[in-house]
Amino acid sequence: RITRGLATEASSSRMPPYPKIVRNLEQVRKVLGSDRALTLAEKILYAHLANPEESLLSGTNNGRDIRGKANLKLKPDRVAMQDASAQMALLQFMSCGLPSTAVPASIHCDHMIVGERGADTDLPASIKGNSEVFDFLESAAKRYGIEFWPPGAGIIHQSVLENYAAPGLMMLGTDSHTPNGGGLGAIAIGVGGADAVDALVDAPWELKAPKILGVRLEGKLSGWASPKDIIMHLAGKLTVRGGTGFIVEYHGPGVETLSCTGMATCCNMGAEVGATTSLFPFSPSMVPYLEATHRGHVAKAAAEIAASGPQNLLRADTEAEYDQVITINLSELEPHINGPFTPDLSVPLSKFADTVREKSWPETFGAGLIGSCTNSSYEDMTRAEHLIRATLERDQTLSTFSEAGGIVLANACGPCIGQWNRTDETPKNEDNAIFTSYNRNFPGRNDGNRRTMNFLASPELVTALAYSGTTTFNPMTDSLTTPSGEAFKFEAPSGFDLPSAGFEAGNPKFQPTAAIPDASVEVSVSPTSDRLALLEPFAPFPEGDLSGLQVLYKVKGQCTTDTISAAGPWLKYKGHLPNISANTLIGAVNAATGETNVAYDENGNKSGIPELAEQWKNQGKEWLVVAEDNYGEGSAREHAALQPRFLGGRVIVSKSFARIHETNLKKQGVVPLTFANREDYDRIDACDTVDTVGLYDTLKAGGQGEIQLRVTKRKTGETFLVPTNHTLSKDQSGFILAGSALNLLAKQAQK
Ligand code: F3S
Repeated sequence: RITRGLATEASSSRMPPYPKIVRNLEQVRKVLGSDRALTLAEKILYAHLANPEESLLSGTNNGRDIRGKANLKLKPDRVAMQDASAQMALLQFMSCGLPSTAVPASIHCDHMIVGERGADTDLPASIKGNSEVFDFLESAAKRYGIEFWPPGAGIIHQSVLENYAAPGLMMLGTDSHTPNGGGLGAIAIGVGGADAVDALVDAPWELKAPKILGVRLEGKLSGWASPKDIIMHLAGKLTVRGGTGFIVEYHGPGVETLSCTGMATCCNMGAEVGATTSLFPFSPSMVPYLEATHRGHVAKAAAEIAASGPQNLLRADTEAEYDQVITINLSELEPHINGPFTPDLSVPLSKFADTVREKSWPETFGAGLIGSCTNSSYEDMTRAEHLIRATLERDQTLSTFSEAGGIVLANACGPCIGQWNRTDETPKNEDNAIFTSYNRNFPGRNDGNRRTMNFLASPELVTALAYSGTTTFNPMTDSLTTPSGEAFKFEAPSGFDLPSAGFEAGNPKFQPTAAIPDASVEVSVSPTSDRLALLEPFAPFPEGDLSGLQVLYKVKGQCTTDTISAAGPWLKYKGHLPNISANTLIGAVNAATGETNVAYDENGNKSGIPELAEQWKNQGKEWLVVAEDNYGEGSAREHAALQPRFLGGRVIVSKSFARIHETNLKKQGVVPLTFANREDYDRIDACDTVDTVGLYDTLKAGGQGEIQLRVTKRKTGETFLVPTNHTLSKDQSGFILAGSALNLLAKQAQK
């Protein structure tokens, strides 16, 4: 990836407010006692509390027992938004009626750009096709003083790493891979648009204090092993749920051997284990990276803090304790391939060929994709390029990706988010394989085909495999046959962390707009648009418990935010709630029949899920969904909460929730409950009637109280109570009572 649109030294908003953060940390030390050892994540997080005393001492055993218990009310330093989620975030921000954002913010146009034939044709076509939305985002950015990075300027997480992330910073991003910024020592957390709006209007953003998972790195990577393999290996150990409620904090001597962008890759994919975020301590590679990205002033300030004493902001205290520790010896780490269909199915390269045969996975594959926010650094590309050169030099041919038969897609998300017009002849109804250096591999994510098995690997491994076309090829041990019939074996890749002459400032047309609000700029949304629609506030909670809810759907198995609100072609409706709601839950499997997106009403009439929801909405009937584990895993997509709410969904009851999605539901006024007894999942079926018991009182009591569901079976009329658990805080109870967080914020902002 070629870096474009870099900060200039003069950009003061890119300097974290260090004096304030350091002062706040001193305040935290006073509250907790100076002998209390803190992890790095705790230092940065607690130094961003709106009121350290209130958050750290209330109900938490006098500050001793904070992690996993205290509700932190945080004031992040900045916000970043990608184009797809920025639409709804801005529509929400606009309805609060403020003249500018309370903290620096940026918008990055990357998700809505198709990958098909190559950047030169795809980029102009995508700009044309989305001009209404890009114009809306740009005009809103100018009006409210948000930096706007136009289409083609880069993928959000790389632009953030290159311009905004900095050691000790705390930021929110409306995308689940925001933790990428942890590669530069920032606490960067992926949230929904509604959470971003909290920060944009200066309302404290609430987070249950995470536990801290320490990952100790020893040794040094060599040969084919890359930073991606650290997190791929960790994902296999932790599974997609293992990091839930944790911040992953890397430490140990191995940290100093990694490049800044390599550390960013580890943090990026920490989202795949459900972690709140991941981060690295200040390390030597951060200084040249900050300098190469035109932020020498930030490097200097951070280095001074890092040298300011044993308890400084940018490293864990020596005595700090982690809730759990995993040690990885980088010298022994093998390359890994993860997938298909889930990022935690991790297989070491040496066992992959046998696994392919054992599981009857396809032995050939149709595409190898490298890049994305996960792996598009200078180091990644030069390592992949090294392999191509090795091959090509041998054959005396050419030396670039495109000349090697690759297509250079636009500097945007493209196939990673389903914006891929795949042109090879893969049959839709047959299992097939692809390899990518991306981070996510849920069914249907890349090409919309649920039979496509996406195997994740490092860019260099994907590149080498692409030369063989077979899934059983191991470039460390196997040879290829060249067109001239000779055996060819790859040598291990090598690359460069940073370009020796630094990054170029890039094409001026990819620079961001200025962060100066201009009230004279009109932000118009056409009432006839099918892409954008102003938001109507949701009705407040009724005065009493919810009664007569009906089970719309009982979901079997995995239910990601892609399942609830599909991406791909639907991305174009992100700013139009009524239109995008037509995709609600279309990927969900019916627990009774095994069918996908097939719902049955009380009379046995069959329809799609959104169609039945809309029918019930029109009849004034409200509903709930019953689901299994980790409901809403995957992304920060708030549409996955907004859409059910818009169509009349009031409660989701599951075996467990993904953290971001659970918060998003509450912000939109949907009540997330978990079964106190997991087996109760088996006792509720589609079209059963449900009343809540104790919900209203719990909300009125600021989240204190027990909530049960009274279930009446449709078939037998039998009635029973199902005990549930909830995580409603006082503020979140207020959101639900007001109808949504936005209703409450708008009221407060207008005071
Ligand atoms: Fe974009 Fe894929 Fe990253 S969608 S932000 S490149 S995870």
